[in-house]
Amino acid sequence: MHTFSFLALGAIAPLLASAADCTREFLQSSADSLVAAQTAGDPSLLKPVSEGLVYQENFAAATFKSGILATPLKIDHSRHSLDTTQCATYTELISAKGSVPYVLGVQMRFSDGAVFKMDTLITKTGEWLFNATSTLNWASKEDWGTIPEAKRDSRAVIQAAADAYCDIFSDKSVVVPWGHPCARLEGGMYTGNGGPNDKCDVGIPSGVALVDRRYVIDETVGAVSVFLSFAGIPDSHEFRVENGKLRFVHTLTVMSAKGNGKTTGKRKARGSIMRPPRK
Ligand SMILES: *[C@@H]1O[C@H](CO)[C@@H](O)[C@H](O)[C@H]1NC(C)=O
Repeated sequence: MHTFSFLALGAIAPLLASAADCTREFLQSSADSLVAAQTAGDPSLLKPVSEGLVYQENFAAATFKSGILATPLKIDHSRHSLDTTQCATYTELISAKGSVPYVLGVQMRFSDGAVFKMDTLITKTGEWLFNATSTLNWASKEDWGTIPEAKRDSRAVIQAAADAYCDIFSDKSVVVPWGHPCARLEGGMYTGNGGPNDKCDVGIPSGVALVDRRYVIDETVGAVSVFLSFAGIPDSHEFRVENGKLRFVHTLTVMSAKGNGKTTGKRKARGSIMRPPRK
């Protein structure tokens, strides 16, 4: 049933070994320790970390010592997705009120009770549509809360909604389960106003492949985080799915990154997503 996400990880054995003893409590405390570490600028507060940890920032090899985690950030907002099936977490971190604003997305993957793979996407002033104040404003208004058990979508349905959205960038015939309402938060830009008529099917580019997708899925909140290569650009797309339909989309796009060595060519997106709206 979860074949696709396992294959996408390319690390089947450690995940299968860890899945059985991976609880929400464990994932929650690890993800909370990430927030504590980032707040203090002290990577040693992140626990537990595997000796063989593979750590990347913007899809390039990095170290804790010279990385973002060594910089204390005032965290104004954080939200976790906990994936007990893959033993993985996704955390959205917004620092809007500190001296230097940041919005981060972090995927952590665990094996044998410790994080063995960690990917951090870092957006800051100058990145596409970046505005941490606006991001904080919209992100704190949205409801990403627990969905009652009887109304939850399956992991497959949640992932399919995310994949449909990602696929339509290169194939306009794909049917995307748009929710009504639905809103996209990209950098600091919001496609809606928080009202019942918010729409997500506006200004989707064409001719660009969103590939190398790595998922973290939390069916208790209908959330799926997808780290992907947006025509070679490190990118995070996160979705909230309700009743099989897209409700919220959050993106982080690291235009300034040098790429991840898995680029899909030099094609440029032809839609609005690469062009900030006029003031
Ligand atoms: C960022 O967003 C805030 C809140 O929406 C707005 O007041 C501010 O002017 C924006 N900053 C820039 C640089 O666009």
